[in-house]
Amino acid sequence: MTQTGAVSGSIRAEKRHPLIGATVHGVDLREPLDSATLKTVHALWMEHLLLVFPGQRISDEQHIAFGERFGSLEIHPSVAHRSSRNAAIYRVSNVDEAGNIVPPTDSAWQYLNQSWRWHTDSSFREIPSMGSILHGIEITSEGGNTLFANMYAAYDALLPDMKSRIAGLWVIHAHDYIIRTAPELAAKKDRGTYDDLPPVRHPLVRVHPVTGRKSLFLSPHTMVTIEGMPETEARALLDELIAHATDEKFVYRHVWAPDDVIMWDNRCTMHSVEPFDNRRTRRIMHRVTLVGEGAPVPA
Ligand code: OGA
Ligand code: MN
Repeated sequence: MTQTGAVSGSIRAEKRHPLIGATVHGVDLREPLDSATLKTVHALWMEHLLLVFPGQRISDEQHIAFGERFGSLEIHPSVAHRSSRNAAIYRVSNVDEAGNIVPPTDSAWQYLNQSWRWHTDSSFREIPSMGSILHGIEITSEGGNTLFANMYAAYDALLPDMKSRIAGLWVIHAHDYIIRTAPELAAKKDRGTYDDLPPVRHPLVRVHPVTGRKSLFLSPHTMVTIEGMPETEARALLDELIAHATDEKFVYRHVWAPDDVIMWDNRCTMHSVEPFDNRRTRRIMHRVTLVGEGAPVPA
């Protein structure tokens, strides 16, 4: 890790990757965040896109309180993954609340596997999420790392021809696409219980409301097609953009330590989980998800 020199009071940030991610030291997430700290953390977040707070042994209540300093919290559409104690906690876990590994035949287990695909949280909503805050409670020693891609950098690196080709395009996103393209779920009758969410349209290139920077807005697990484009052409274009944006030069791989808390900006990043032996290996992460400030602004 290299020091970036971002120091404010006792808060210190160290870059983890040249393009995305910094570790933040000197903030205790168990304590209420005062306004000065909130401002510093927010500025670091906008600069680095993703912040890692190591060694934060927070309760769900403290996790929620930290999230609420940045805005309101979403309730996840998948009923099975909501904590029974706090609906705002999304349980990214192959272990149920009684402590047992969920059987691979269970829709909840199968739905969660879809986070192994590249995606942006809540891209299926009319107002997608602003950011997500994930607490690593029980982590894996093999696989189960989380990959994060910088979507500003991916946009900036496109050739001018591609930038003009995609300017003004709109993508149809649907929550249902996650389910119908999941091999184990597609074939089933009972695919789980989800809030009903109609398809939405989002710009392919968006402008970040805080930084003013342009980024690619991709979320492969919800992107059905491009509006007004023949199906095969749309699929080929989306696949080309996904391959480009997930090139390793744009990607930070997070290897979890217990009680890492990671906060990422869904408006300029995309992420995926690296496969692990989820039939046998326990992995418990809790997430709160920040409601977006408005529909994505087209570039
Ligand atoms: C998420 C997700 C990441 C992880 O919480 O949004 O996709 O590491 N999971 O489990
Ligand atoms: Mn996710």
